[in-house]
Amino acid sequence: MINVAIDGPSGAGKSSIAKQIASKLGYVYVDTGALYRTVGLAAVRSGFDPKDSGKVVPMLDFIKVELRYVDGEQRVFLNGEDVSEDIRLPEVSMAASGVSAIPEVRAFLFDLQRNIAAESNCLMDGRDIGTVVLPNADVKIFLTASPEVRAERRQKQLKEKGIDEPYENILSDIIKRDYDDSHRETAPLKQAEDAVLVVTDNLDFDGSVQAVIDIIKEKTQARQEQQ
Ligand code: DC
Repeated sequence: MINVAIDGPSGAGKSSIAKQIASKLGYVYVDTGALYRTVGLAAVRSGFDPKDSGKVVPMLDFIKVELRYVDGEQRVFLNGEDVSEDIRLPEVSMAASGVSAIPEVRAFLFDLQRNIAAESNCLMDGRDIGTVVLPNADVKIFLTASPEVRAERRQKQLKEKGIDEPYENILSDIIKRDYDDSHRETAPLKQAEDAVLVVTDNLDFDGSVQAVIDIIKEKTQARQEQQ
């Protein structure tokens, strides 16, 4: 199986870029942020502080998180309910970041991610895919952009879904999440030593897709030649 790990901060365009590449290459696209968002949503719905491990850890015994692919598109289920839309709300983003710092939550979602990678050629995006989940991935990419560029893109995305969120709020959320995600003790967001860095500030969508495809082709060809 060919496994491609794409890590980077929120709003760098990982999911739209990875989704497009997966469909071009015929790979399965796995959005691991959706899994943390689902646990975050469960905490929000229960009225728990997402950072309160004393509340969140026992909750894990009562929740089932599943990924299913409907017409090639990833959908995420919480106890059998399709929550793929609900997990995109801004308050759930913060909650996802909160629960993701809890080691038991990371362990809870680990096998799910590993199993998909073992079974399929996949492009998996997240924060710790190249460093922790798939340390032996065939290709590792660290995709990023400045916080300002990411905030602009996120605002546009939300607007398309009919959600009007002020730019300043989005930017401060991004800066806070970047800080929290890269300073947590367990599996912090960081570039794997063997990951290729791609900065998309000056690349449009198609340019970013092409840059990543070029890296995948180069790395997988090198691997095939070695065999
Ligand atoms: O990629 P995203 O914005 O949907 O991710 C939501 C949160 O989940 C993010 O703040 C960090 C966390 N996350 C993580 O810790 N590890 C991953 N592999 C993916 C996401």
